Amino acid sequence: MQSAKISSLDYGVSGKVTTFEETASKRASDLEALALSWDDELHAAWSDWLDPDRFSFQRGYTVLGGSLQAHVDTVYRASTAVVRRMANEAGVVAPNRVLDFGCSVGFNSLAAQGLFPDAEVHGIDPEGISIELGTLMASRLDRGQFGKVPQYHEAPGERLPFDDETFDFIYSTTVIEHVDDVNVCLAEMARVLKSGGAIYLDAPNYIFPYEPHVGSMMLPLSPKSLLKTTMRMRGKGREAGFVDHLNWVHPGWMERRFRELGLVYENRAIAKVRRVLSGEGGAVHYGRAAAALQFLGRLGLSGLIGGALATSRLYPSLIYVARKPGGPDRAA
Ligand SMILES: C[S@@+](CC[C@H](N)C(=O)[O-])C[C@H]1O[C@@H](n2cnc3c(N)ncnc32)[C@H](O)[C@@H]1O
Repeated sequence: MQSAKISSLDYGVSGKVTTFEETASKRASDLEALALSWDDELHAAWSDWLDPDRFSFQRGYTVLGGSLQAHVDTVYRASTAVVRRMANEAGVVAPNRVLDFGCSVGFNSLAAQGLFPDAEVHGIDPEGISIELGTLMASRLDRGQFGKVPQYHEAPGERLPFDDETFDFIYSTTVIEHVDDVNVCLAEMARVLKSGGAIYLDAPNYIFPYEPHVGSMMLPLSPKSLLKTTMRMRGKGREAGFVDHLNWVHPGWMERRFRELGLVYENRAIAKVRRVLSGEGGAVHYGRAAAALQFLGRLGLSGLIGGALATSRLYPSLIYVARKPGGPDRAA
């Protein structure tokens, strides 16, 4: 397995690549493989993207499966499982236009295109090199497998290059904690969302005492200087600067902003905590915390613990579905 700098994918799994790989193989191996034509140009573009001297935003990326082809196929299948779950949670069935907000190289966009072949799928990301690689991959897709291909745009989420009310479904997975202005990004999502449309958003919850990108325990909403000091004491000083750009997002902030923007939201993290407590699954992330929850669930404490966690907001992830009221399908 080649280790290099990298990907977005790690973020969704708290840097636990084995967990991700296991997840990918257990849940996604039955999904369709990605039919992509590989040539020197695509190999070179991937090598550039993986070069830590050129591309420093993402933290360590691991190429899965021993080759770029295996990696891309593995991640595509896993992304298909992820986008399918997000669409299910958001109740999205046949969207006309989909936006992958903070798409990186576009695996979730490819997955959305595969799941919704008739939809117009757009991905935005401010990282030009990721958009270039995503666009190149899209140009090498087998048009028998993909009638339409995703369209990628180099743009910050604070200034989306789309008209008002364009998208039926917007998803943003492990992005909002990285942006320059969370409130403006959420306003932009609300602006380009159609009435009746849905946003799926996930990110770490910084009320939970753990920072998943750097793998460090931290006080809830800790001053960054304190977290950086802790990291230096643990020999992780070289990574400490990474935390500077992060936004300590949390449920109170998200929910207040959704209300300001006139969105109606569901807190899906609480439902997930209850699923984990009952042993029904959803324990891929934050393995030890999930195992502890399952243990408490087995002791018959599900109701008590679920209520306490929901009230205290002490769960590891923000997971929201937010809808814009109105629209033909959801008119009251
Ligand atoms: C951890 S990656 C997640 C990528 C992808 N959503 C996924 O789940 O694989 C975070 C992404 O957020 C993007 N990003 C950073 N600032 C942004 C902004 N202001 N607007 C939109 N995306 C941003 C980064 O370029 C990066 O691709």
